[in-house]
Amino acid sequence: MSESVSGDSYAECSATADWLMSNTQVRPTVGIVCGSGMGGLAKMLKDPQVFKYSDIPNFPRSTVHGHAGQLVFGTLKGKPCVCMQGRFHLYEGYPIQKITLPMRVFKLMGVETMILTNAAGGLNQDYKVGDVMILKDHINMPGFAGINPLSGPNDDRFGVRFPCMSDAYDRELRQLAHEVGGELGFNDFLKEGVYCVLGGPSFETIAECRMLHSLGADAVGMSTVHEVIVARHAGIRCFALSLISNRSVMDYDSLERANHEEVLETGRLRAEQLEKLVTTIVDRMEHHNNNNSF
Ligand code: HPA
Repeated sequence: MSESVSGDSYAECSATADWLMSNTQVRPTVGIVCGSGMGGLAKMLKDPQVFKYSDIPNFPRSTVHGHAGQLVFGTLKGKPCVCMQGRFHLYEGYPIQKITLPMRVFKLMGVETMILTNAAGGLNQDYKVGDVMILKDHINMPGFAGINPLSGPNDDRFGVRFPCMSDAYDRELRQLAHEVGGELGFNDFLKEGVYCVLGGPSFETIAECRMLHSLGADAVGMSTVHEVIVARHAGIRCFALSLISNRSVMDYDSLERANHEEVLETGRLRAEQLEKLVTTIVDRMEHHNNNNSF
């Protein structure tokens, strides 16, 4: 097998997809990424089959506390799913293409829809800890500096050179999430807004939070956007949720300090409701086959 510099070549992704498909009967149409403290989502899968990242060819390993580092196959409400229990981040030091490699592998396995979750800081002053924000759009801050998972030669077998991002977060799925959230009585804490990704791992300064807020971001975090870019490039429709685990500090008199334990704790508090929301969305969503890239 030829190894690319970036580690996400068609040959490498195909080898990984083939290895997985020869080790599981599940042919997932839905992919789920569990954010920090939200690994419990994977426990919703029936007849789970688990692969440690360290056993999967070409997969990086997850190094973050609160991320299990395994891929779980199974069914959710009868739909074949693959769930990443733990994801990869820029701040772990991986090349950006390694962070997004699972999206391409999932595409080759037949995934049509991605549901991504993350923990995020709330910049919007109306947001409270424990709110769940449906992503309407994103700001790819590392992208402004040329850090984009699609940098480098384009492989047309995955998608086009210049993919559109104005429809990154599927309108129908967002609508469905609002409907389901309303039925479940979640309206009080369900929001919709713009997510801004930064490289991390240091949390934002007060001046940075003020700047991001004034630029139109409602929440800030260190993940998801890279995966969405690569998934959209490959024609996978995307839906993403941020669990607001802390309020971003915007005021020099505040004594609040962002910390990772708070992030995990908020995940535990909302875990069950998030699981219910995601499960019901998966149950109700229509089959989607947007094969625009092959
Ligand atoms: N900033 C960046 N990432 C985060 C935060 C935050 O405040 N909370 C959870 N992830």
